[in-house]
Order: sequence, then C-alpha cells, then structure tokens
Amino acid sequence: PDKVMNKLVSLAKRRGFIFPSSEIYGGLSSCFDYGPLGSEMKKNIKDLWWNAMTRRHQNIVGLDASIMMNPTVWEASGHVASFNDPLIDDKTTKRRYRADHLIENHIEKLHREGKEAEAAAVKVAYEAAEGTEDPNRTLYNIIIESGIKAPDTGSADWTEVRQFNLMFQCNMGAIAGSGGVVYLRPETAQGIFVNFHNVREASRMKVPFGIAQIGKAFRNEIVKGNFIFRMVEFEQMEMQYFVKPGTQLEAFEAWREERFRWYSETLGMTKEKLHWYKHDKLAHYADLAYDIKFEFPFGTEEIEGIHSRTDFDLTQHQEYSGKSMEYIDQTTNERYIPYVVETSSGCDRTFLALLSDAYQEDVVDGEPRVMLKLAPKVAPVKAAVLPLMKKGEMAEKARQLCAALSESFMVQYDDAASIGKRYRRQDEIGTPFCFTVDHDTLENGTITVRYRDTAAQERIEMSKAAEFLASKLV
Ligand code: GAP
Repeated sequence: PDKVMNKLVSLAKRRGFIFPSSEIYGGLSSCFDYGPLGSEMKKNIKDLWWNAMTRRHQNIVGLDASIMMNPTVWEASGHVASFNDPLIDDKTTKRRYRADHLIENHIEKLHREGKEAEAAAVKVAYEAAEGTEDPNRTLYNIIIESGIKAPDTGSADWTEVRQFNLMFQCNMGAIAGSGGVVYLRPETAQGIFVNFHNVREASRMKVPFGIAQIGKAFRNEIVKGNFIFRMVEFEQMEMQYFVKPGTQLEAFEAWREERFRWYSETLGMTKEKLHWYKHDKLAHYADLAYDIKFEFPFGTEEIEGIHSRTDFDLTQHQEYSGKSMEYIDQTTNERYIPYVVETSSGCDRTFLALLSDAYQEDVVDGEPRVMLKLAPKVAPVKAAVLPLMKKGEMAEKARQLCAALSESFMVQYDDAASIGKRYRRQDEIGTPFCFTVDHDTLENGTITVRYRDTAAQERIEMSKAAEFLASKLV
C-alpha cells in the first residue's frame, strides 16, 4: 500500500496535481497546494457536486457563508465545549498522541495476540470512561495500567490526558468581552443553520428544502498523514435538508441512495470499493448516521458522512440567539423547528479516492505505461490536440481546432516529442481523448481520435470534434 501511495504522491507532484504547501521552506505538516491539473480536477468535482445538488433539485439552493463567524455560533453548536480530542504526550520525545487511539490500538493488538479476556477487560473500562467523573483521568489510568507504550519509541513516560479543542483560534481587531477570539470554522454546516431564515425567505422555500455549500473548513488535527486524506485545512461539500419532524428517516434513506450513486455513477468510482458504515456511537447531535467509505490503498476510510441531525442545531441557535428558528407551514398553520438531514462530503478525500481508483499500470504496444483512468467528466484535460508537424498547414489546422474546442472544453495543445510520447504524457494525466492532425486532415478534413483506455484509434470529421467531446461528457 505504501508503494502505491508513493507512486500517487510522486505522480501528483510531477504532473502538477498536488504539491506540498510552501515546499521551498520545508513545507507545513498536513497542508497541500493543488497545482494546475489538480485545481482543474478539483473544480470539476465541485461543479459536479454543485450541479447534482442544486441545479437538479428545484428545492435546494446554494450559499457561500463566511469562514469566520460570531464566536457565539460555536458555543451554540457545541463545538467550544465538545469538539475535543483527548491527547497525551510522550515526555521523552514530546510527541503527542490521541489517548483514545492508543487504547483502541492496544485492544486490537490484544485481539491479534489472542488475549481475549484482557482485550475485553480493557474495552469495558474504555467504553465506560465517558461516564466517569473524570474521563481524562480514566483514560490515563487505562494507559498506565495496560502498560501502553509510545508507538515510536516504546517509552511509557506519559503526561496527563488533556482535552484539546480542534478549532483554530485567531484574534479579530475588537470584539468586546471575548478577547477578540474568533474561530476558523471546523465545518461549513453552521453557516447554513444560522442563515436558515435568510435563505428560506429570500428564495421562498417551503419545507422540505435544502441549502448547499462548498467551502474550506479547518481542524487542528493531531493525527496527520496519508497525503491529502487528513489535512488541517480542507474543503467540504455540505447540504442541509430541512424536513418536518417525523419525516427525517424517509429523507435520510433517499439521500443515502442518491449520494452513493453520485460517487459510483456520476464520478465513476469503482462500486465495489465503496462501502457503507453505520455509526453505533452517535455524535451529540445525531439520531442516525452512516458513512460512505472508500477502499484507499492505506485502508477503507470515510469520504462522506450522512447524518440525521434532528432539530439540535436550530434549537441551539434559537436558544443562544434569542431568535425564533421555527417554521410555519402556511397551509396547515403548524409551527415547528425543522429536522435536518445532512450530507457532508470531503472534496479532498473524494479527489484522493478518484486518483487512487484511477491509477493503472499496463503495457501498450510492448511498452509499459501509467494511466489515470478517470471518467471524462472528472479528468482535468478533456482532449489533447496533437499536430504531426510543428509548423506549416498542419500546425495551423491544429491551432484552429484547439481554439475552437477551448471555447467549451479544457484542452491542451502539444507538439513536442514523438506522437507516442505525447500519448503517454496524456495517459498519465488521465486525458480521455487525443486528436491528431495529420496529412489526411489536410486532404479530407478528418482527424484521428485516440482513446486513452484502449489505445484504439478511429477517424472522425474535424468539424465534429466538439460534438464528439460533448457526447462523451454527458
Ligand atoms: N458537518 C458534518 C461534518 O463536518 P464530518 O464527518 O466531521 O462531518 C465530513 O466531516 C467530511 O469532511 C468527512 O467525511 C471528510 O470527507 C471531510 N473531512 C473531515 N475532516 C477532514 C480532514 N481533516 N481532512 C480532510 N477531510 C476531512
């Protein structure tokens, strides 16, 4: 698995999908930059999500809320009090670990070693920790009594367990009473909840309706790694669907189905690598929660959470703001605080899932090649225009074709190196089609289409190239 990840990371950098952030200064842990092809592909993912969620649903509208909000938002949402990880430091190396992860890994290790009774005992103590008077102390005691050692050094010289809030804090010029502390949002959802009435009134929405948003979120994650899978700055694509209380499970099922299809059908991910995971332990706000997981090279991990959030958020905001969050049904005069079904996808994780799903090595014409078998809709470049000659009439025709296609599609012009090399360059970045302009083009106005997946070729009229591409992108 590491080998596959290394290949992906290296290709991503070499071809301009993803670079380490501020690399010339040694980078910054868990931060990455999307390069020319990466930003193009990420934009495709976001557009496909946006269209699927807003354009295709008359009752879902968009929003682009600010990252920083009045800090009371995060008190109401529960993030100030409980968006915490329990952390413990190894005194020798000063390395920081999640106490819960150390214990969970220890239980797994005991299982592997066949020490079932011991594993069960630790598990019972661990699951009861939250209900104890001082949960952190309990976690600490479990770590000490089980003799859990730091994974990197084998040392067992631990500090106390402390709660560490995942929200990034910054200071704003002058906000009386709070010391100017504002937070970078750890989820985009709250921007939607606080705008519930603004959006509803402005767009004359009636329950059930949804608000969709794409934007950056920030979490001061301690566990890092796996490339862009877990970052401190990432992008979410979230939709909150407001329903009448009592109808949430029906809406939940419908969204579960629709969101799964988005990955498998719209984005073309391998269906067998997508899995459902039902949460037994629910977040403080949820009454039902499923994750869509994907088989990454490093394991099967979450890409989207679908949560039935009840009326928790709107009720909290009503209480903290003193403003009614009730909805009045105009036909029945019923008043209620709507329930919320949320679909929350990680744009970067979707990107990584697509990249790892698409990566293939095969042999074409007796030569090994690397190919990204991306769906045409997702691929950063839709077609390459390749003139057989660098100059003269052939180049002129190719330039014309490139300019015409550029009106509607992201295309690349490439006249450097042999035609075989140029095909390979395009295969490696996932370009589904190459259009070659050759002698026949000058004679009869046809071009060669070369297909990425099969390397097969056929001739089409040059004047039909745009139509051809459009037909492949529906
Ligand atoms: N509003 C609900 C919410 O934020 P979440 O399960 O914490 O739920 C939703 O996050 C999605 O955001 C995840 O499924 C994941 O794709 C993405 N995500 C969360 N933390 C992330 C991180 N540190 N790096 C990259 N993506 C992350």
